[in-house]
Amino acid sequence: MAQQNDQFKKVIAHCKEYGFVFQSSEIYDGLSAAYDYGPYGVELKNNIKQYWWKSMVQMHENIVGIDAAIFMHPKTWKASGHVDAFNDPLIDNKDSKKRYRADQLIEGYVEKLEAKIKKEVTKAKKRFGDSFDEEKYMLESPRVLKYKEQIEDIMARFTKAMGDGDMAELKAIIVDLDIADPDTGSRNWTDVRQFNLMFSTQLGNIAGEEGKLYLRPETAQGIFVNFLNVQKSTRQKIPFGIAQIGKAFRNEIVARQFIFRMREFEQMEMQFFVRPGEEMKWYKYWKEARLKWHKALGTPEEKLRFHDHDNLAHYANAAVDIEFEFPFGFKELEGIHSRTDFDLSSHQELSGKKLQYFDAELNKNYVPYVVETSIGCDRMFLAVLSNALQEETVPDAKGKESTRTVLKLHPAIAPVKCAVLPLLKNKEELTTKARAVFDTLKYSFNCQYDEKDAIGRRYRRQDAIGTPYCVTIDFDTLEDDTVTIRERDSLKQIRVPVSEVEAIVREGVDMKSLF
Ligand code: GAP
Repeated sequence: MAQQNDQFKKVIAHCKEYGFVFQSSEIYDGLSAAYDYGPYGVELKNNIKQYWWKSMVQMHENIVGIDAAIFMHPKTWKASGHVDAFNDPLIDNKDSKKRYRADQLIEGYVEKLEAKIKKEVTKAKKRFGDSFDEEKYMLESPRVLKYKEQIEDIMARFTKAMGDGDMAELKAIIVDLDIADPDTGSRNWTDVRQFNLMFSTQLGNIAGEEGKLYLRPETAQGIFVNFLNVQKSTRQKIPFGIAQIGKAFRNEIVARQFIFRMREFEQMEMQFFVRPGEEMKWYKYWKEARLKWHKALGTPEEKLRFHDHDNLAHYANAAVDIEFEFPFGFKELEGIHSRTDFDLSSHQELSGKKLQYFDAELNKNYVPYVVETSIGCDRMFLAVLSNALQEETVPDAKGKESTRTVLKLHPAIAPVKCAVLPLLKNKEELTTKARAVFDTLKYSFNCQYDEKDAIGRRYRRQDAIGTPYCVTIDFDTLEDDTVTIRERDSLKQIRVPVSEVEAIVREGVDMKSLF
């Protein structure tokens, strides 16, 4: 656990030091759960979005994109169920005055029991050495069995309480488990109550309830209300999808994990409209397709897993998370939801406008069913960055061992693709030539010209921001028009004519390799 916290602290510190992510309004001591992306952060985030957009929209003839407004008619959120059901169970500690999510307090308790099981296994492994049979131990160890039984009992009560929206039972679980305020140890709790996560604001010219607007808590509704506009204008036939990338806002009760849980964040969502009855086929298809998308970036298989939802959202008949092993454990990165015809039917009912599709093959009208893929761009950013950030021992320029911090990002999403470095700053022939090389490459890639400090330090700076290629201009370049290209991960250096640099970098950073 301590090691995990260390890695998380390193990720946050790296993001700040190298201009990836800053706390919002930092000079005023920051605004909690809001973050700003710095110069390298915005490039990385844009590349993640581009990877998603290309693979979801441009690589599918039957998926098109939109960019809907953040503000929507207030009835949208009534129809979608967000006004009535987009709640988290809130509990306050009367002594510390701190606010918690009741479900997270209970889940935290269960996580501690799971950690105890892990500890028992580690101890037993040490004790029994090579002869240790983990499967047998898990089935027979009295302590492990006791913890497992406790977990099952708690989860059964918890799942039922969440499903029934039974706030009194959630409070009872917290009291029965003797859960204390994680910060102060106080057990002086208020009752649990529902807290709606939508931010509201007011239309300029209308006072009172009538002028109340919400900041969208998901981008999906902009897609649903445009379903017929898009279908008719693009003449798409079912099955087809509509995709969107955009901001969403949630008044999260607890938001303490950097960009993992924010109050303002970005989603990349796709709604796939299908024939009623065919939704489970497409649900399975998108589950596998989305996992493949993650793996293509080089994310190790063991850091990704599916987690089926025990508690289904008000709109879903099946839902699964793709979880990633963040430095603080496995957590949701993306959701795939079978949303039935809930949204389109509700909008149809409340707006009085038909939202149906005429299926020529079946010769009938119906409200399509929907399978959704929904991923937070910021969460993806955190997953990518925490997976890429590594410390390695490598030989320095003099062949001695030294430690380097390197961001092993897939080259296709690296913020800077290529750095152009004159060997020395104060030799005009070198800097002029380096600038000329930079000027030819800058049209093709995001490149960086850097002449400050010794070459070794400049390499380290590029490693730390994940630049896959460094091109060095030295005295031989002036003689034979060749340069050295250094590759970030292998540290291999090759000598090539200047005229070949663009093609080599292009080949290495091309997004095509991801598809
Ligand atoms: N349209 C469905 C929907 O919004 P969700 O599971 O609530 O489903 C989808 O959210 C994804 O959005 C999550 O898997 C996560 O990646 C991201 N997300 C949700 N809340 C977030 C928050 N407060 N901060 C950052 N990302 C968030």
